[in-house]
This record gives sequence, structure tokens and C-alpha cells, in this order.
Amino acid sequence: MRKFMTTTAMAALMAMAVGGIARAADSVEVLHWWTSGGEAAALDVLKKDLESKNISWTDMPVAGGGGTEAMTVLRARVTAGNAPTAVQMLGFDILDWAKEGALGNLDEIAAKEGWDKVIPTALQQFSKYDGHWIAAPVNVHSTNWVWINKAALDKAGGKEPTSWEELVALLDKFKEQGITPVAHGGQPWQDATIFDAVVLSLGKDFYKQAFIDLDPAALGGDKMKEAFDRMTKLRGYVDDNFSGRDWNLASAMVIEGKAGLQFMGDWAKGEFVKAKKVPGTDFVCMRFPGTQGSVTFNSDQFAMFKVAADKVPAQLQMASAIESPTFQSAFNVVKGSAPARTDVPDTDFDACGKKAIKDLADANASGSLYGSMAHGHANPASVKNAIYDVVTRQFNGELSSEEAVKELAAAVEAAK
Ligand code: GAL
Repeated sequence: MRKFMTTTAMAALMAMAVGGIARAADSVEVLHWWTSGGEAAALDVLKKDLESKNISWTDMPVAGGGGTEAMTVLRARVTAGNAPTAVQMLGFDILDWAKEGALGNLDEIAAKEGWDKVIPTALQQFSKYDGHWIAAPVNVHSTNWVWINKAALDKAGGKEPTSWEELVALLDKFKEQGITPVAHGGQPWQDATIFDAVVLSLGKDFYKQAFIDLDPAALGGDKMKEAFDRMTKLRGYVDDNFSGRDWNLASAMVIEGKAGLQFMGDWAKGEFVKAKKVPGTDFVCMRFPGTQGSVTFNSDQFAMFKVAADKVPAQLQMASAIESPTFQSAFNVVKGSAPARTDVPDTDFDACGKKAIKDLADANASGSLYGSMAHGHANPASVKNAIYDVVTRQFNGELSSEEAVKELAAAVEAAK
């Protein structure tokens, strides 16, 4: 009798334990900043994919494009000893967390699924630390894009601008039409996103010298002054209410024909797609004039934090789901990005998506693929934030181009 009771009790306990493990293992908590319409639609593809695998999702959204606010919240969570399972993260931030020893290890799943062979080296630079996989890349975005309202462009003669002068002429024509030429939101990361493209438009070598090599001569030279002059020129084409506006509201201005164009990464396309707009019919996507052939990229990755052992299986399943080729296609079609693997067919992508995939491959092959300064793929946060500060103050008229050039070189030097 006693033996029977013990066995039964043990069996019950074991069942509870297994059930308990199953429950804990079956959930992930995800911190991210995908809160706009297009972003949320893309995130939903991931949530549903995991749900179909019986993994439940605890959402931890932190609004704020570019992720600045999300990174502040993350720091507080980790300091409190309560790291989420997975965190949307960009470039150098991933490496910073890895350096602190906060991230888990995805080597087993990466080896089993052969990630090394299909994920481009440009992304692996940020998905691996000390030779170990620490993050699962979900996409590749790029920042040197222009999103144009097609009807407004047609009214202006229909020709896509291919040089700075043609761009300025087009913006003047938008002004004549009585619409806001440039839809923009005055937030440091958005100003910096335009600056990525403007600097690249003055030469890919210049971009590399300034933002990748942090060469003081490039940061403090005449060409940089010209870049700031171009920013001043563009500032003249935004509306009076631009300050603080979220990027997706700026996209909406172009979608609704209230503005002519927006300079923004290809997450903007997610907003056009969500609004059921079609490339070539309702809007035009093109590279920032003068940057054709080059790409400034950023890749959203899910950095996997060190979590309790019972949570690791779901974390690995999430990483595996993210790298599945079918998921990569389904997600990135909605998000506006290109897949993080080189073996995903472009069949389901629209014209802009196909162009994004091709541009990336071409730029990679010709050595014209660079990490985006604005989106954390050129420098660690300390340098990035130092650049943001100068760019924003100059854009808002607090610094002349001459002053900005001097401040930029000094600020980067101090932050290095
Ligand atoms: C970028 C990120 C994109 C998009 C954008 C605006 O940094 O890579 O996925 O979310 O911010 O929020």
C-alpha cells in the first residue's frame, strides 16, 4: 500500500514536473519596437508561426523607431535580473551585449541547420561573437531608399531623379503642386537616416572613410560640409509640423498624397503594403539619387538572452522558426525587407522587394555594401549617438554646416 502510494505520488509529481517544464518551455517573451501598422503585421507572421508550433508569445513592445527607447527598457530589465527570451536588436548593440556575457548560445541549432552557409557574412558579423552564434537574423533592411507618391511624380513629369540636382528640381515641382515636398519626422534617428543617404550620395568611399573608418579627415573635411549643406537644403522642404512626428505618419503623408516623397529605409514599404498600395502604380521606390549601386544595410536580429534552462528549448525553436526559408519569405514580404538568407526565392516579393534582394546581392559582390550608421551597423552606440546629436542640431538650425563639421569630428573622436 505504502509502495503503491509512493509510486502514484511520484508519478503525479513527475507528470506535474513534465507539464511544468512543457509550459515554461512553450513560451517566449519578446522585446521589440515593431509597433507601426506594417511592422505589427510582419510581427504577426512570426507570432502565428510560433503559435502553430505551440509556443506562446508574451509581447513586450517598446514604441520608438530605430529602437532607442527599446534599448533603454532592455537595460533596465537586464539590470533587474529579468532578461526577456529574445530581443529585436541591431548590429553593434548585439555585440555589446555579447561582450557583457548576457547572451545565450545557438551553436547547436545553427550547426544542425547549416546557418553558416546561407546567412551572409555581413550579417554573421553581428550574429556571432567569439565564433559562437548569439542571435538569429530575421531580415536585411537598407536605408538609402526614396518612397515617392506616383501621382505626384507623374504630375511633375514622371521622371525619377538620378542626381542631386534632379532631386532638388523634383522637390521644387512638388512645392508648386501645393503638397509637402518631403514627408519627415524630426527625431534624431530619422534625421540620421537621411544623413546616411546624403553622405553616401557624395561617394561610397567617402561614406566608408567617414562612418566605417571614422577617419577624422573625412569627418571634418569639405565633403562633410557639403553633406550638411544638403541637409539644410532638404530641411527647407519639410512641413511646419515635422518635429517629433513618427516615421510611419510621414509615410502616411506620401501614401495619402499630402507629401511627395519620404527618405526612409524599406520598412516604409511595409506601410504602403499595409495600405494596399502597389509599387509602380501607387508609389515608386528608388535609391537615393547618386547612391545607385551602393547599399547601406541594417539587419534586425533576435538576440537570445541567457534564460533559465527550462526556457531554452522554446528559445531555440524560435531561432529555428526564424531561419526557416518559408518563414523568411512570408515575413519579409510583409516587412519590406529582404531575407536574411541567400537561398530564399524572390518569387513572392513585389517589384521593390525583388529590387532590394538584387541590390543587396550586387552591392555585396561589388564591395559596395556598408553598415548603416543611423541603424547601428557602422559603430557602437556611443559613436552613433554622438553623430546623431550633431546631425540633429545642424538639421534644426542650431549649428551651421561649418560648425557641424568641426563638432562631428570632435564628438566622434571623444566617443571612440
Ligand atoms: C529600424 C529597424 C526596422 C524598423 C525601423 C523603424 O531600426 O531595423 O525594422 O523597425 O527601425 O522602426
